[in-house]
Amino acid sequence: MKEAKIYTPNYPLLCSPIKLAGLTLKNRMISAPMGFPDLTQDGLLTRDAIAFYELRARGGAAAVTVGEAVTHYRTGKSHGRSINLQHPDVLAGLTNLARAIRRHGAAASIELAHGGKFSAVDRLPGERVRDAVKYGPADETLPDGSVVKQMPHEMIGEIVESYGEAAALVKRAGFDMLLVHAGHGWLIEQFLSPATNTRTDEYGGNAINRARLAMEILDAVRAAVGKDFPIELRISAEETFPGGYSLKDAIEFAKLIESRIDLLHVSAGSNEESFYETHPSMFMERGCNVRFAEEIKKHVSVPVGAIGALGEPEQMERIIASGSADIVYMARSLLVDPELPRKVVQNREDEILRCIRCFMCLAERMHTQTRICALNPVIGREYEAQFDPQPTKPKYVLVAGGGPGGMQAALTAAGRGHRVVLCEKENELGGAVRSEKEIPFKMDVFRLIATMKRRMELAGVEIRTGTEVTADYVREQAPDALIVAVGGEPIMPVSGDKVVTAENIANVSGERVAVIGGGLVGCEAAVHLAMKGKSVTLVEMADTVAADANARQRPALVGQLYARCSVITGLKALRTEPGGLLCEDREGKTRLIEADGVVCAVGSRPRSALVDSLRGTAPEVALVGDCVKVKDLREAIFRGYHAGLDI
Ligand SMILES: Cc1cc2nc3c(=O)[nH]c(=O)nc-3n(C[C@H](O)[C@H](O)[C@H](O)COP(=O)(O)O)c2cc1C
Repeated sequence: MKEAKIYTPNYPLLCSPIKLAGLTLKNRMISAPMGFPDLTQDGLLTRDAIAFYELRARGGAAAVTVGEAVTHYRTGKSHGRSINLQHPDVLAGLTNLARAIRRHGAAASIELAHGGKFSAVDRLPGERVRDAVKYGPADETLPDGSVVKQMPHEMIGEIVESYGEAAALVKRAGFDMLLVHAGHGWLIEQFLSPATNTRTDEYGGNAINRARLAMEILDAVRAAVGKDFPIELRISAEETFPGGYSLKDAIEFAKLIESRIDLLHVSAGSNEESFYETHPSMFMERGCNVRFAEEIKKHVSVPVGAIGALGEPEQMERIIASGSADIVYMARSLLVDPELPRKVVQNREDEILRCIRCFMCLAERMHTQTRICALNPVIGREYEAQFDPQPTKPKYVLVAGGGPGGMQAALTAAGRGHRVVLCEKENELGGAVRSEKEIPFKMDVFRLIATMKRRMELAGVEIRTGTEVTADYVREQAPDALIVAVGGEPIMPVSGDKVVTAENIANVSGERVAVIGGGLVGCEAAVHLAMKGKSVTLVEMADTVAADANARQRPALVGQLYARCSVITGLKALRTEPGGLLCEDREGKTRLIEADGVVCAVGSRPRSALVDSLRGTAPEVALVGDCVKVKDLREAIFRGYHAGLDI
């Protein structure tokens, strides 16, 4: 008889329950608040918004926190669209949302928020109100010219009351716990901050007065929900701008309010003033903000949670084992892989897709008001995805190309029951992503290959490396469908011994390096080489660099670039010469950039000849990724996913 295998979790602490007031959470991994604009104009929940949160509950998070729900909509709407907890019709949507989260065994939590002086009250349904008045702790004019008025006493009272009413409402809707947002620069933090709170009444001045609004809000919330209903408070551990509060001040605040709460959620920074402290970029260590939770935890007895670029099971287990925190939160990691907690619990950590911190999620929200993730093609269509077609008859699908687009296509097709063979010309999978191995801050992009390979193996995809797909090969294989994902080939404006492509960055020679091309790839290559101690000059023909980076990623990258490299725009590379790289400026004047090695990063072009030779070789042919149009990782994965779905 087969011996039963005893299950022991690889990360026992992460998988262990924790009690908060009258609620027991099933593990220590919580989905951090993430708000998205797919709400109605009045701030009501949509079916799409509910499906978004439900995905994370199904993925095994102990609690799923709904992002910014505004308690006092007239003055506190924190974004163009935020949940309006004062709308007379909000209850049904909230109830359906709480049910959608709870039916998967996760606790339903919701963040109560008020934007204060940063409220988007000038963006009312369908119009931009130019002279809308914003309210904050004190009179102020913001850098964008918005006028902020000091909140009168009656308004403070009304807002405190609105928190109590909102708390009663979310409890009635079936939420298991709630989070009061006192960080990231929103209203409560504006009152806590000596930089913005210059009031002279009982809400300003000393630390206790500045904490008064928080205490009154927490008291109103507690009165509404009772003692068994967990109240979580989210704070920023320090304000890194001039005059802001310090970690020491945050500790004093935590001591002051801990008797009023059941869980202290320690974040950092503010949306407006220190975005990358709140949302650590790929240039920062995973878990760089855990030190704040660790420090604060020494001074309070209430459970403490840590956040900031977390997602690595081993690191999260260590955080709890070392006593740095009792709970870990993840936002972006659960966008990329909503099933991360379930995989941790089931010892399937080799299937976890890592967030690459590309900021596409946050930038796209600003750019098009939609929700996307570079690596997860379901994000933004969670509701529809539940109705994706299953194949009526399994087919033989041949995938040409083992880059991210090809791998995603293979995974999606195999997941739908097709027999899939993936061929890759090289001896390793990964395509253009393979070169990220060399760049420490892109390591999570490189690790995508191993995770996708593992997932393909589990899905039954047959992988044939070292196998080039030609028209003859396709005819011989006679698949029902062919997915062509053969990638692009680099454009080389100069040639010579000392020239390498960005993909071969590891082989660049010498200490002085010229990088040709100031797009995303070139900028990242330049920063990486400079981090390795090389003297780097980046040459770009256009006037700006990193123009193809998204709005959230660009400032982080450009900051690194200018701090570490010499950057020359308006310069065209002509050829290599013994002393370096000869370039020409817009006036036609030549200039030698002294360099021992040159990296070409001016982009690639689709492998059109190969693609053309494969057209019409199978009854269904789909083209995916750079071999159609050179774009980015997200496009390759997105097209691969849909090609796999369409068969
Ligand atoms: C798409 C997105 C939406 C977010 N929305 C909210 C929100 O509504 N409320 C909030 O307090 N924080 C919000 N955040 C911040 C996260 O809760 C979290 O603090 C931050 O992303 C850092 O965690 P991470 O490194 O795990 O992503 C959002 C973050 C992302 C990526």
